[in-house]
Amino acid sequence: MKNSYALVTGATSGIGLEISRELARRGYNLILVARTKERLSKTSRELIKEYNIKCDYFSSDLTLINSPEEIYQFTNQKKYSIYILVNNAGYALPNAFHINSMEDEEKCLRVLGTSVIALTKKYINDMISNGSGKIMIVSSVAAFAPASALQALYGPIKTFMNRFNETLNYNYNSMGITSTALCPGYTVTNFHKASGIQDEMDGVPKFLKKSAKRIAVEGVEAMIKGKKVSVPTKTWKLIVLILKFIPNWIFSLLSGILAPGRYK
Ligand SMILES: NC(=O)c1ccc[n+]([C@@H]2O[C@H](COP(=O)([O-])OP(=O)(O)OC[C@H]3O[C@@H](n4cnc5c(N)ncnc54)[C@H](OP(=O)(O)O)[C@@H]3O)[C@@H](O)[C@H]2O)c1
Repeated sequence: MKNSYALVTGATSGIGLEISRELARRGYNLILVARTKERLSKTSRELIKEYNIKCDYFSSDLTLINSPEEIYQFTNQKKYSIYILVNNAGYALPNAFHINSMEDEEKCLRVLGTSVIALTKKYINDMISNGSGKIMIVSSVAAFAPASALQALYGPIKTFMNRFNETLNYNYNSMGITSTALCPGYTVTNFHKASGIQDEMDGVPKFLKKSAKRIAVEGVEAMIKGKKVSVPTKTWKLIVLILKFIPNWIFSLLSGILAPGRYK
């Protein structure tokens, strides 16, 4: 369709940037969303030049409650039809739960949770009218893991997102819409630095650290095929499998050795 687009949040760095590249490589037109205008404009220009697609961008801070509505108004005014919605933007808080302010917790939960629900709510009615649509929620292996010392609410909100993803599939598959929870393990991006936990994560062994490109290529393929959950790379698939069978305390003990900052 001439005006059919994929909208990607957090499209200027890490996993979101590589998802945008992979979608552009496959010929999809793009709407990029993130806060920093200069990076949006630069990324947009690069993708147009490299892949000969149509690409526009909208600067938006998803910690703000009105942002999903503003993004929706922007695409509506421009008459862009959103066939693919990738909810990817995210960060985590560095401090312990009792130290973070409620305001900071709420902002983070808005980016990782409420804004995902709000954007999906905005676009799903158009997808229903069109009889087709693809949604991706960039979740995490943390959704399957036991509680950790760092980022107290990060795992719980990702588990919530996986359940939301199940709900979307249950209710909308029959209307031609599929939703994919992409659940990466440790991925080399700006995430840990932006979340103030780079030092703690530096000790994670190399074999557990995967490239954002690998995550994106596997994730986009899964989304196009309509898979419900995607855990990219054999290493992290195995870890998620093990998580289903071993008690939480053994996992925490092993992780304490492999990722000492996360599990003390
Ligand atoms: N890296 C990992 O190990 C890992 C593992 C599992 C899951 N994930 C998930 O993957 C997703 C992407 O993370 P990443 O690793 O690619 O991180 P990243 O490299 O830091 O990229 C984050 C992206 O989100 C945007 N963003 C951040 N805060 C935003 C806000 N308030 N409003 C709008 N956009 C915002 C950033 O652009 P601006 O700063 O310009 O806004 C950037 O484009 C997140 O949902 C994260 O939870 C990451």
